[in-house]
Amino acid sequence: MRKSLKHSFRVANILPFLKRGVSARLFTSSAASLNSIQPDLTKVRITFVEDDLEDGPRIVVDAAVGAKLVDVALENDVDIEAACGGELACSTCHCVFTDLKLYESLPPKQEEEEDMLDLAADLTETSRLSCQLEVTPQYEGSIILVPGQAL
Ligand code: FES
Repeated sequence: MRKSLKHSFRVANILPFLKRGVSARLFTSSAASLNSIQPDLTKVRITFVEDDLEDGPRIVVDAAVGAKLVDVALENDVDIEAACGGELACSTCHCVFTDLKLYESLPPKQEEEEDMLDLAADLTETSRLSCQLEVTPQYEGSIILVPGQAL
């Protein structure tokens, strides 16, 4: 008898809140909290290393997915020139990918990019022109070298 009175009291206390939809708000609140700890998939962290040196100056940026890689570099004061404004008429936006898996995920080079890369100083097997690339989620945590003397 005593137990059922206690039980009735508890139900009676929360019933008005249930009727007002408190449980739905609590659920929504919990979902919002979970969302707040999810990583922001629209941004990825990229580290640019200037002068193509392992111990060269580093600039860590949070780049928007879909942005041109060269624009990300320029907007964050990375020492890259991009003299032709992305018209494939120079190689001053040359960069080197240190992550082979990321490099292999990049869209294939066009012939014009290959031609311009041939003029780049410090050309490597994983060199690309940053004006021809868009940031993708695969860039998360990547390290990109920026050679000091591009033509
Ligand atoms: S800015 Fe000239 S080729 Fe990329």
